Amino acid sequence: MLGGFTLAVALPAEAALGRFGTGWFAHAQVHGHLQVIGFAGLFVVGVSTRLAPRFTNRTLHDPSIRVAFWLLASGLFLRALGQPLAQHAAFAAVMLIGGALEAAGALLALVTLTRTLRPWAAPRSASAALLNASAFWLTVQALLSLWWLRDLAVEGDRILPADRNALLLEAQTFGFLLSALAGVGLRSFPTFFGAPPPPSRYAWGFAAVLQAGLVVWLLGLGLQLDAGGAVAVRLATAGQLLLGTAVAAIAVLVGWWRHGSRLAPASRHFIWSLRAIAASLTLTGVLLALSAARALVEDVEVTNAQLDAIRHVFLIGVITLAIVVMGQLILPEFASERLVRQPAQWRGRVFAVALPLAAVFRGVLPLAGLSGEARYWSMSIGGLLGLASVIAFAVLYWRARQNHRTYLARVAGWRGREVPLA
Ligand code: HEM
Repeated sequence: MLGGFTLAVALPAEAALGRFGTGWFAHAQVHGHLQVIGFAGLFVVGVSTRLAPRFTNRTLHDPSIRVAFWLLASGLFLRALGQPLAQHAAFAAVMLIGGALEAAGALLALVTLTRTLRPWAAPRSASAALLNASAFWLTVQALLSLWWLRDLAVEGDRILPADRNALLLEAQTFGFLLSALAGVGLRSFPTFFGAPPPPSRYAWGFAAVLQAGLVVWLLGLGLQLDAGGAVAVRLATAGQLLLGTAVAAIAVLVGWWRHGSRLAPASRHFIWSLRAIAASLTLTGVLLALSAARALVEDVEVTNAQLDAIRHVFLIGVITLAIVVMGQLILPEFASERLVRQPAQWRGRVFAVALPLAAVFRGVLPLAGLSGEARYWSMSIGGLLGLASVIAFAVLYWRARQNHRTYLARVAGWRGREVPLA
């Protein structure tokens, strides 16, 4: 959180001051990786290991997921340390070891989750399949990264080439993170909004179109690595269109704007944040689909700048907000805080405004045509809002943890005695 979000403020500020260079691009890649695999990725793997046993009533092998966590975390640290200085052989080696540890961690998480989710056993839910797909894409991107980091180390370079990086970014953002969010969202969002769960065939249809769109998109990007060519570009754009349409359709399936809230009174203020997540997801789908449709009609490519902006709408407005809100709804520390006293009602509303606003400054305004210095200052404001939000979340978590410990100690003291009810 600290590495990724601090760079989110520093990178655009440096760019606005004209301080661009190889180091800037290397740090931009480190920021992306720390955010997607570190901040968001570790949360997603953690939540998946909690939810997978509930989806299938099978226990998860706890020791191996702990090993996976340490492999991923230490790998991330080494890679972030090594890449910005990878023109020196020693740092290139550190970066490569980091990549290898990450790949081993991802593979172990995939095997552990797959053994619990059991894709070969029927009946399965679309949510379970999407969680499995998420772990699969985490592993694919980690293995590809390792392969391409090896090339960087050999060539004494520190920036992944744009075409390879694009493929990794789509696999991470829409393969790993979106698949997990869709799997959890299909199950939990209708409950939060008091809506009926989507019929199973629709949920399966949505999951299939999402994965098909992603595969076609990545295939198009993969073909561009070799030969390039108009067909590969159009294939990638068609995949993006399919995926964007599926994402927009999830909004219709859940119908988040039609319903009220079924949250307990102490958590009801989070309904605004949950609506903001669903609205940002709908916006992501619409932007992906519209930019791809326009590119197909006009026979042009969707630019890297457009994709970077849309990705950030999703990564800040959906993923970061979901982490901050779901964390407060599901972590035991916050649950025992709610038992002791009613949490302040401002929380849900403040996060519901601050993070979507950060997504507007970082993604929507640049996409709408803001350019030059103003574009980078706008991004920096987005970075500050994002950093302030995650620091607020960390402070709330730390406070809830203290209360949780006191609460557990008090409950342990009641054992065998009459429980004081007042
Ligand atoms: C909070 C506000 C944020 C700001 C201001 C910000 C800023 C930036 C900037 C300036 C870049 C470089 C773009 C370029 O190369 O032209 C970038 C790239 C990126 N950011 Fe962010 N970011 C933010 C939040 C996030 C979050 C929350 C995530 C993920 C959870 C994320 C993931 C990425 C990724 C994956 C890249 C691409 C890196 C690459 O080129 O390899 N960012 N961001």
